[in-house]
Amino acid sequence: MFNFPKLPPLSLYIHLPWCVRKCPYCDFNSYRAAKEIPEQAYTDALIRDLDHDLPRVWGRRIQALFIGGGTPSLFSPESIDALLSAVRARLAFDASLEVTLEANPGTVDAERFKGFREAGINRLSIGIQSFEPEKLEVLGRIHGREDSLVAMETARTAGFDNVNLDLMYGLPRQTPEQALADLETAIGMGPDHISLYQLTIEPNTVFHATRPPLPDEDSVWVMQQPLQQLLAESGYRQYEVSAYAREAKHCQHNLNYWRFGDYLGIGAGAHGKITGARDITRLWKLKQPAAYMVRAGTTDGIAGDQHLTTRDVIAEFMMNALRLTEGFPAQLFPERTGLPLSLIVDKLDSAQARGLLTWDVHAIRPTALGKRLLNDLLCLFLPDDECGSAKSSLACNVEKQPSDASASM
Ligand SMILES: C[S@@+](CC[C@H](N)C(=O)[O-])C[C@H]1O[C@@H](n2cnc3c(N)ncnc32)[C@H](O)[C@@H]1O
Ligand code: SF4
Repeated sequence: MFNFPKLPPLSLYIHLPWCVRKCPYCDFNSYRAAKEIPEQAYTDALIRDLDHDLPRVWGRRIQALFIGGGTPSLFSPESIDALLSAVRARLAFDASLEVTLEANPGTVDAERFKGFREAGINRLSIGIQSFEPEKLEVLGRIHGREDSLVAMETARTAGFDNVNLDLMYGLPRQTPEQALADLETAIGMGPDHISLYQLTIEPNTVFHATRPPLPDEDSVWVMQQPLQQLLAESGYRQYEVSAYAREAKHCQHNLNYWRFGDYLGIGAGAHGKITGARDITRLWKLKQPAAYMVRAGTTDGIAGDQHLTTRDVIAEFMMNALRLTEGFPAQLFPERTGLPLSLIVDKLDSAQARGLLTWDVHAIRPTALGKRLLNDLLCLFLPDDECGSAKSSLACNVEKQPSDASASM
């Protein structure tokens, strides 16, 4: 049924699930750390997990590596070094490979960042969220404004020339002026990339139960306009719904994800997507770190797997690729899905007739209206009962809390 002219690029996602404490808005597979994180046991489990997955990707090179969480910066540089050495011994990659690690400003010290750099991390993604003390408090963050400023300086001093800052807007009781002030401060720190997320209320989070007073959708829309303008004026080009980069500083791992590339996902709750000769398989690992550590590297460490149907593949490709500001070249669809473009021509025509995208044999692009009504646009390519899932927004190869087994962004 599927016919792939060539295999897609491959990246590797590694999930480290512990945090100092759990933020009330967060539905990532992350857990408050006990006094001691079992770094050695978890690193060993990751390596067994990788060994078990390797036959699925024999002979393929990786194009990017991303260590996400959780708060990976809680791990020691020695553990990260051991992990990266094990990856190097098992998978081929170029010296220029992008290797990202997520860091929390509350877990920064100069030696640690220097150690990460020496271990081979060459891109840091720092979770700032906001600079306002009152907002940081509401968000349950473990750091203050000053910690974030210091984190950036420490990253530069340690030799990181590729740094992303995560910011959120649409926060409880946030005014447009406050959101703009946060972004101005972030830009003033000179990052290479900014991920600007609208706060969403996710099921199974504290915020879902407490319902903090968020600005309504219209206010958020008004809030967004000056943010986007400031980013553009400051040299950050939007290339995805939430991602803005300086020249040549796009996140290669996430781009591969949005272009429906392949990835191995190792670690508790991590998802992988692998293209075979005639099918695409998703697989996901056990979520609970304790169970994962016992079973990783055996078939029991895999919580589930699934061969995607034609409907799944079309929906997932569109849900990723239409998030890209420039859309995608038309030939990417058959290349990555193994399906002919003719299968979606009617839907493309209908989206074009509604002014949501433009398309020809060269490129398929969301219009300004399509970007604003992205969920409506995506729904055209999803089965009716799955329209709600078009709302997924973050790039992340890890299962969400607590038992939803859907492939997440
Ligand atoms: C897995 S976290 C990694 C960073 C690190 N754990 C931290 O928080 O500092 C990735 C990013 O997702 C964003 N995020 C998490 N939950 C969100 C939500 N409910 N709405 C919008 N953005 C969210 C935050 O900006 C966060 O930095
Ligand atoms: S937002 Fe980051 S620090 Fe907070 S709980 Fe989630 S993963 Fe941990």
